[in-house]
Amino acid sequence: LTALPDIEPSRLEVIDNPSPRPTPSSSSLVFGKVFTDHMLTIPWTEANGWDAPKIVPYGPLSLEPSCTVLHYAQTLFEGMKAYRNDAGKVTLFRPDMNMKRMVTSAKRIALPTFNGDALLELIKILIRKDKHWIPKDPGHSLYVRPTLIGTQRAIGVGPPNEALLFVICSPVGPYYPQGFKPVALYGTTEYIRAAPGGTGGYKLGANYAPGVVPQKEAAEKGYVQNLWLHGPEHYLTEVGTMNMFIAFKTADGQTELVTPPLDGMILPGVTRDSVLRLARDKIAGLPKDLIVNERPVTMNEVKEASLDGRLVELFGAGTAAVISPVDRIGYLGEDILIPTGPDGMGPISRVIWKELIGRQTGSIPSDWSVTV
Ligand code: COI
Repeated sequence: LTALPDIEPSRLEVIDNPSPRPTPSSSSLVFGKVFTDHMLTIPWTEANGWDAPKIVPYGPLSLEPSCTVLHYAQTLFEGMKAYRNDAGKVTLFRPDMNMKRMVTSAKRIALPTFNGDALLELIKILIRKDKHWIPKDPGHSLYVRPTLIGTQRAIGVGPPNEALLFVICSPVGPYYPQGFKPVALYGTTEYIRAAPGGTGGYKLGANYAPGVVPQKEAAEKGYVQNLWLHGPEHYLTEVGTMNMFIAFKTADGQTELVTPPLDGMILPGVTRDSVLRLARDKIAGLPKDLIVNERPVTMNEVKEASLDGRLVELFGAGTAAVISPVDRIGYLGEDILIPTGPDGMGPISRVIWKELIGRQTGSIPSDWSVTV
């Protein structure tokens, strides 16, 4: 028995886009609306494994209407950012974590797995090809979206006999062009994002569409995003499409930074992991007595801390927005207020955001930044 072929960069075929488009001005960018001239596609079949990778002009895919992805949401994705500095050097931020998570997601929905290092090599070639699309302005980057879909041409529910991996790239600006604007969250008790034993801990397309209506309803009530809660205790889990952090003053006067544990309901975010690492490393500027915990937090704990004046800050953390401060939570008919500084941030997020941005853009050297 010979193993079927894995993703193999040496088999790459490149078809240049015959009509490359002018790149957009940085100021006109809206998140995820413009795509670069090329995309990477790698088909897979059960019979023959991974086929030769191709870089081709960005454009429509051809799929039969019976494809399982269109019926049963057999799809997963990743989000990662590439940066270009003034000298023209291009870097990715911790892409090994995205590759590992992509394989983990694939296993969860019976899509084929692959060698993440090989995919990363191909993604780097794609980014180099379209590198003139990466905006250089501060806070700008290229959002890279690897996606894997089941393309079996039959509507039976089961592991697909065909799949397609593709990668598209979108130049993006800062999430908060006018500086940090803290957002109000709606402590959502009508809907849940994830449940024990479910798929919340995987980056599956199926986790995102069901959040759109709750987000609209939160917006109608005057809030920006959902604060996803779990269980009768109303444990805080995530914020919109982001992980979340909360900081308290403890009874004995220390500062505690908390994020919910990876219990299967929480997405193992790259930004989440980076915030934890920087906080645990106590980078310069953080409170000297900072303690960092991955533990469950209930809305009651948040409410009590707010009443006692022990709430320090609350923020979302994700690839798209990086850090997103929160100044208010609507919960069971009342508003819990959360302190924010004049710049919209809090004492921990301010320090971590600066370090994170520095390491992402390469202005602060670190092994998290990988040359493309
Ligand atoms: C994030 O980066 O926070 C995301 O989850 C990406 C989003 C566009 C789905």
